[in-house]
Amino acid sequence: MQRYAFPDNFLWGAATAAYQIEGAVQEDGRGDSIWDAYCRKPGAVQGGSSGAVACDHYHRWPEDQALMSGLGLTSYRFSIAWPRIQPLGKGPGLEAGLGFYDRMVDGLLQRGIAPNATLYHWDLPTALEDHGGWRNRDTAYRFQDYAAQVAKRLGDRVALWATFNEPQAFVGCGHVGGFHAPGRKDPDQVVRQIMHHVLLAHGLGMQALRGTVRKDAKLGIVMAPTLVWPAAETPLHFAAAEACWTEDNEWWMQPMLHGCYPELVRRRLAAQGHAPVMVNDDMAQIQQPMDYLGVNGYFPIKVEPDPGAPLGFRRLPQSARNEPLTSMRWEVFAPAFRSLLVQHHRRYGLPLYVTENGLSIAGDAPGPDGLVHDPRRIDFMQKHLAAVHQARQAGADIRGYYHWSLMDNFEWAEGYRQRFGLIHVDYATQKRTPKDSYHWYRRVIEEHGFDAAVPEVVSAWEKEGETSGL
Ligand code: FCB
Repeated sequence: MQRYAFPDNFLWGAATAAYQIEGAVQEDGRGDSIWDAYCRKPGAVQGGSSGAVACDHYHRWPEDQALMSGLGLTSYRFSIAWPRIQPLGKGPGLEAGLGFYDRMVDGLLQRGIAPNATLYHWDLPTALEDHGGWRNRDTAYRFQDYAAQVAKRLGDRVALWATFNEPQAFVGCGHVGGFHAPGRKDPDQVVRQIMHHVLLAHGLGMQALRGTVRKDAKLGIVMAPTLVWPAAETPLHFAAAEACWTEDNEWWMQPMLHGCYPELVRRRLAAQGHAPVMVNDDMAQIQQPMDYLGVNGYFPIKVEPDPGAPLGFRRLPQSARNEPLTSMRWEVFAPAFRSLLVQHHRRYGLPLYVTENGLSIAGDAPGPDGLVHDPRRIDFMQKHLAAVHQARQAGADIRGYYHWSLMDNFEWAEGYRQRFGLIHVDYATQKRTPKDSYHWYRRVIEEHGFDAAVPEVVSAWEKEGETSGL
C-alpha cells in the first residue's frame, strides 16, 4: 500500500455540460441548438431520446449544488449554453440566460466552490448552423461576440475559463463520423477548414475573455488529446506513436502555442489539396497566451507501425486489446493517461488540469438496499488518480482533477443508457442517489489523498523523449 497524497490547494472537481444536464430547452427564450435538431432526426440518438428534460438541472440546480457541497468539491466545471444567451447566435445577450448562470455562479461561490466555465460544449445555435456553422468563418466572430458578453456578466467571479470543450471530438464525431450533431460527413478539405475556424474562434474568444475578466482568472481550452501508447516496445512502434501524436495532438497545439501548423502534416495536406485556407493574420489571432491546458482523458489509443497505411501507422481496434472495457467499450488503461499528462507537461510546459476523466457503467442502479454499488468506478478512479499522482511526481504541474461526471446525464448519441455519474439519476422521478464512488471520492477530497497500490508503468517511448529533449 502506498499513500497518494495531493497538496492542499489541488482542485477537486466534477464536470458536466449544459445540454447534457439542463433540460428546459424551450424555456426563457432559449434558442434551438444543433443538438436539439440532431435529436429530432429519426434514429440519430439511441432510444430516440434528447436533452429536452435531461436532469432538469435548470430547475434543480440548488439541489445539485447541495450535492456538490456534500461531496466536498472545491471546483465545479460546467458549460454555458450559447442558445440561452443568444438564441439566434447573435445580438444582445438574453437577460434570462445570463441571469441563470449568474445565480449558479453565486451559488457556487457561497458554497466555497470555484466556478470553472466552458463557453462551448457543442450546442451551437441552429441559426448559425443554417448559415454554414463552423464551415463558415463568420461563426468564429460570432463566438467572439458571445464570449465577450458572457465574460462581461460573469468575468468578475469565474476562476477558470475554457473557450472550447474537445474541438477534436465535435469536429471528428460531428463532421467526419457524422454520428454527433450536426451529423455531417464533410470532405477532408472542409474538415480542415472547420478545424481552422474553431482555432480562430478560440484565439478570438481568448482575446474577448482576456480583456474583460478578472486579472487572476485562468484562461485556457479543454482538449481531447489522443492518449497515444505504442503497442510494443520497439523503435518502430515509438516512431509510430510519435507520428500519431503529431497528427492528432500537434495539429491543434502548435497553432495555439506557436502560431503554425506542424510543417510535415501541412505539406502533406497541401499536396492533397486539403490544407485549410488562411487569411490575413489568422495565426497571430490564434496564438494567444494561455494560463493552463485542460486535458480530458478516457481511453488509450495503441498504435503500431503499418508501412502500407497512408500515415505509416495504424490504431489497434478496441477488440484487439487485452484489457477490461467499459460500457462505452473504452479500454481501461491508466498508464496511457499518466504518460499523456507527463508528455503534455514536457511538450507544452503549461499548468494542467484534468478537466474530464471517468467511465460509464450502463447498469448502475439502486439495489434492494437503496444504494448504488459501483466498485468498478472506484477502481477506475483509484487507478487514474494514482496516474495523476505519478505524473505529478514526474514533474507535471497538474493542479486539479474533475471527474466526469457529477451525475448521470444525456450521453450524446448514446442517449441515457450510459451512466457516467458519481450520482445516479432516476430519469422518471429525477431522484438523485449518490453512488458508492461519491462517498469514496468524498473521503479522498476530505483527506487530500488515498491509499492504494497501483504499479507505475512507463513506456520507453516516453523515456526516449526525455533524452531527445521533447
Ligand atoms: C467527452 C465529452 C463529455 C462526455 C464524455 C463522456 O468526450 O466532453 O461531454 O460526453 O466524453
